[in-house]
Amino acid sequence: MNLVTPRSSLQPVAVQGLPAGFRWGVATSSYQIEGAVGEDGRTPSIWDTFCRVPGAVHNGEHGDVACDHYHRMPQDVELIAGLGVDTYRFSLAWPRIQPGGRGPANAKGLDFYKRLVDELQDRGVTPWITLYHWDLPQELEDAGGWPARDTAYRFADYAMLAYEALGDRVEHWTTLNEPWCSAMLGYAYGAHAPGRTDMRDAMGAVHHLLLGHGLAARRMREAAGDNPLELGITLNLGTATPETDSEADREACRRADGMGTRLYLDPIVHGRYPEDIVRDLADQGIELPVQDGDLEAVATPLDVLGVNFYRGALFSGVTEDGSPTDTDGLPVVRGVERDLPRTAMDWEITPGELTDLLVRLQRDYALPTVITENGAAFDDTVAADGSVPDSDRTAYLADHIAAVSEARAQGADVRGYFAWSLMDNFEWAYGYDKRFGIVRVDYDTQERTLKDSAKWYRDTIHLTRNVHQD
Ligand code: FCB
Repeated sequence: MNLVTPRSSLQPVAVQGLPAGFRWGVATSSYQIEGAVGEDGRTPSIWDTFCRVPGAVHNGEHGDVACDHYHRMPQDVELIAGLGVDTYRFSLAWPRIQPGGRGPANAKGLDFYKRLVDELQDRGVTPWITLYHWDLPQELEDAGGWPARDTAYRFADYAMLAYEALGDRVEHWTTLNEPWCSAMLGYAYGAHAPGRTDMRDAMGAVHHLLLGHGLAARRMREAAGDNPLELGITLNLGTATPETDSEADREACRRADGMGTRLYLDPIVHGRYPEDIVRDLADQGIELPVQDGDLEAVATPLDVLGVNFYRGALFSGVTEDGSPTDTDGLPVVRGVERDLPRTAMDWEITPGELTDLLVRLQRDYALPTVITENGAAFDDTVAADGSVPDSDRTAYLADHIAAVSEARAQGADVRGYFAWSLMDNFEWAYGYDKRFGIVRVDYDTQERTLKDSAKWYRDTIHLTRNVHQD
């Protein structure tokens, strides 16, 4: 089922079917907004390096200044509070807190985040911290990066530095953002930092990311004592639908779902890697570098699963010419385009598949979920009066929030929704070309302007909360 809100009904109304206490938020990440890459002791991350590789990022752009959030943080917090959200999800820059990825904490780096937490709490906004949103200290990449086992231990140490400094005041902690992207885009496909292209390295990265997650989670839990701690991980998840009922198409979906979802959630929740995927990898001569005791750490109990959802996908198990294997002799897993509306990323808009995903996650993994990212890039235009009439984005948000409510009606324990993103920012390899913000950023002046979608979101949250106050 794909819902599509008619543009005529984009007036904010109370969303039905959400419980009191449903969490509303906006999300960002450090490298995408902060800028100030050389300030107060921060050292380069793999993204600073990758952005300098010719052709790696659209127009050779980089995060040196980005949204200049490092210098504009108090005003940005005011902006967040003005949206009426109760939660702000942001990430800590590892190379700010622990320059070089080893050794003691950098007080100045920690100070920035302490001030951010203060500003948020002063305005009644709950901080939701992500420890790792892709900015690995370059020194750790030079020492092998995520394919190296030691990086998992380095991550756990860094997590503890952050948790010791902020854990008394911050309850909501996410270890990793989208380890699939770190491993596959970073080490298999070369599309993200560090730009490596080796499947064996990518699978080493998967395991060490998950191990780092588990080691950090275990140590944070131990350290929490009586302090309340809501611990989770955020994954990018979708759906895999076979193009036809053929064996080959169903097999392609098994592989896509296995490599995208089960490879992460099975060890995190059930403490084992999916056998079929382990076999597929063995067929390619690849083994996950698991050592004794690793999976117990990976499966450290969590309180919440963060779900980043942008789209579902249709898969075929044969090439366009009907061959079941590709040029490397590997089984075909081919995404098939559908005749659906799309965003500026060329991503299909599939809100009904968010409902399907959430219901499936409930069935197979039974963790409470929060949508930690959902949103869309569109080619916004600024109207003569300075407003930004982005009805496509508003419709996208409305349809996906409705899909969350529908998932709850079908039994999924979804507890919150965070829009990606608070403001336009550095969209990784797409540079500044793709605008995901509900707030527009003019990169020449750093002026922030609420798009119509931000006003719609603010009013929708307000009306929805009021339902429970009647
Ligand atoms: C997710 C990332 C986020 C942003 C959105 C569009 O994969 O977590 O930083 O780039 O996609």
